[in-house]
Amino acid sequence: MSTNTSALRVEEVSISFGGLRALSNVYLEIAKNEVVGLIGPNGAGKTTLFNALCGLVKPDTGSFFLEGEKRDFPRTDNLVDLNIARTLQGVGLFPELTVLENVMVGAQHLAQTGLISAALGRNTKDENRIRDRARVALDRVYAGTLANRRANTLSYPDTKRVAIARALVSEPKILMLDEPAGGLGTHDIEWLNSLIHNLSSQMSVLLVEHHMDVVMNVCSKLYVLNFGEVIASGSAESVRRDPAVIAAYLGTGA
Ligand SMILES: Nc1ncnc2c1ncn2[C@@H]1O[C@H](COP(=O)(O)OP(=O)(O)O)[C@@H](O)[C@H]1O
Ligand SMILES: [Mg+2]
Repeated sequence: MSTNTSALRVEEVSISFGGLRALSNVYLEIAKNEVVGLIGPNGAGKTTLFNALCGLVKPDTGSFFLEGEKRDFPRTDNLVDLNIARTLQGVGLFPELTVLENVMVGAQHLAQTGLISAALGRNTKDENRIRDRARVALDRVYAGTLANRRANTLSYPDTKRVAIARALVSEPKILMLDEPAGGLGTHDIEWLNSLIHNLSSQMSVLLVEHHMDVVMNVCSKLYVLNFGEVIASGSAESVRRDPAVIAAYLGTGA
């Protein structure tokens, strides 16, 4: 299959919370091995769309396609089967578990014996397989040396690496990251961008980000949301110069 094939596409997604229309007829497409940015001011609807794509929110209307095939929107319990993985805006590591155990949690679907026995060290075949996969995932985010540290002893940027490793351990075709650069300094953002760039040789990436400059370098296509609508999409260059985008960002002082 060519790299231009669609990995994921949604059409006419609308979601209301009570009287508030959080998303209106949203369209978004991610090609295979493409890094797509979803940007927009605070409250634009980015997290709501992200949540719809990973089963945390059920759209009122809309269509969902994987590799061109129409499907139901994902549920949290079949994301792995759909080859989708995501990190959430808060990091959400288990503070008392080691880094390796935290990453193993991301592969719990591989364990017939369940998460608890896998994480707490019953010496099963499952556990060894999961442990190996978790080590590979940690190495991919250059965090192999952190494996035996307790999660609550990590620096903030390192918790972000581990959260990404936990998403990678299921070997997704589509990786979704909600504000991965939040709280990171310039140096760590550069690190993150190069990681995302490297990952895109193996998967598609959807990056939700508040700050436009963070995604400019790493995304080949951007969608800009404002008040729940896609107000622009295209290359970083074209989006940056789009008057509607400039107005949306100026309007919020971002
Ligand atoms: N669970 C919810 N209940 C009610 N309103 C919500 C809920 N989630 C989001 N919203 C509202 O929907 C709009 C979009 O929010 P969100 O998707 O979080 O925006 P963003 O991630 O772009 O900052 C906001 O007005 C927000 O207050
Ligand atoms: Mg958000």
